[in-house]
Amino acid sequence: MKVLIAGGCGFIGSNLAIFLKKKHFDVYTLDNLFRKGSQYNLKKLKKHKIKNFRFDIKNLSKKKIGNFDIIIDCCAEPSVEASKNDLDRVINTNLIGTYNLLKKCIKDNSKIIFLSTSRVYSIEAIKNLLKDKILKKDIKLKKEINENFSTKYPRSIYGYTKLASEEMIKEFSYLFNLKFIINRLGVIAGPGQMGKVDQGFISLWVWKHLSKKPLKYIGFGGHGNQVRDVLHVNDLNILIYKQIKNFNKIYNISVTAGGGKKNLISLRNLTKVCYELTKNKINFKKINRTSSYDIPYFCSSNSKVSKLYKWKPKLSILNIVKDTLKWQIEDYKILKKYLD
Ligand SMILES: NC(=O)c1ccc[n+]([C@@H]2O[C@H](COP(=O)([O-])OP(=O)(O)OC[C@H]3O[C@@H](n4cnc5c(N)ncnc54)[C@H](O)[C@@H]3O)[C@@H](O)[C@H]2O)c1
Repeated sequence: MKVLIAGGCGFIGSNLAIFLKKKHFDVYTLDNLFRKGSQYNLKKLKKHKIKNFRFDIKNLSKKKIGNFDIIIDCCAEPSVEASKNDLDRVINTNLIGTYNLLKKCIKDNSKIIFLSTSRVYSIEAIKNLLKDKILKKDIKLKKEINENFSTKYPRSIYGYTKLASEEMIKEFSYLFNLKFIINRLGVIAGPGQMGKVDQGFISLWVWKHLSKKPLKYIGFGGHGNQVRDVLHVNDLNILIYKQIKNFNKIYNISVTAGGGKKNLISLRNLTKVCYELTKNKINFKKINRTSSYDIPYFCSSNSKVSKLYKWKPKLSILNIVKDTLKWQIEDYKILKKYLD
């Protein structure tokens, strides 16, 4: 089976490309290497004899790259904060990029798997879950958010582009009989993630501890009590593999998938885990001000996806942090260029 992974030199795309190649798929990637660190992932892909088509996804219709059975759309600017400023690039990459892939799917009769996000859900509705609870203490809430949760605005420009792409995929499916799967993902982490302040916090936390550099608790009073569920990228690879294998039976669905309540962690508790593993104590600055796009809490419900695919996350937060640390130690010198 011939697969194209758009955004395939990114964190998720490159992990998935190598995983599928090892399962004997004929894998290609499309990536313009915009993300710092994508060059590093490209070298790994080359070792696995995976070819990358290097160009901006907005120019896809002008390029001849062959036909594919399945296109997996991992191509996006995935930072909520970046989506506040760089509007042209975010809309072109996240929304027009998906449109271009959809046109190609229709022309070549390919199926599509779209990597969407938990950020399609309403910021206000998520905040309301905590009611008047302040974030001075640990959040005890364990409510899992499923596909039926409100997607009412505001969601962030990033969340909007992903939700708009989801809707466009469904319209294309209705009109042209396109077969699709949409995965609304919570936080994904693991080796290969080039963490930065506004995206990829597990990788960022581990790196700052390893290199003994300071960090900031940003927003919600600066206490570090905001919480996310985290899924290991290997668990996501297994899910997408199952989706490809079952595509003829299970399609035109939208599912939420994430680490779930067993894999919930606050920034403060992540600091404890990083300290335990590195024995490095680093300084923290408190930034009181909260970004209008930030949310205090997210936890994915895997009910629907688990029933459909008999899948659930196997790897714990500790596994995720340990694997990220192992990777960063192994490639420390090279990664300084991308993670410092
Ligand atoms: N990482 C997460 O926690 C997470 C969570 C939910 C959803 N997602 C979604 O998963 C997908 C992959 O995320 P990721 O974390 O791997 O991001 P990433 O930034 O690591 O990867 C995206 C890749 O797309 C490439 N790219 C960006 N703009 C491009 C353009 N105009 N043309 C061609 N290539 C371009 C980048 O160079 C990069 O290699 C995204 O769609 C994201 O919205 C990620």
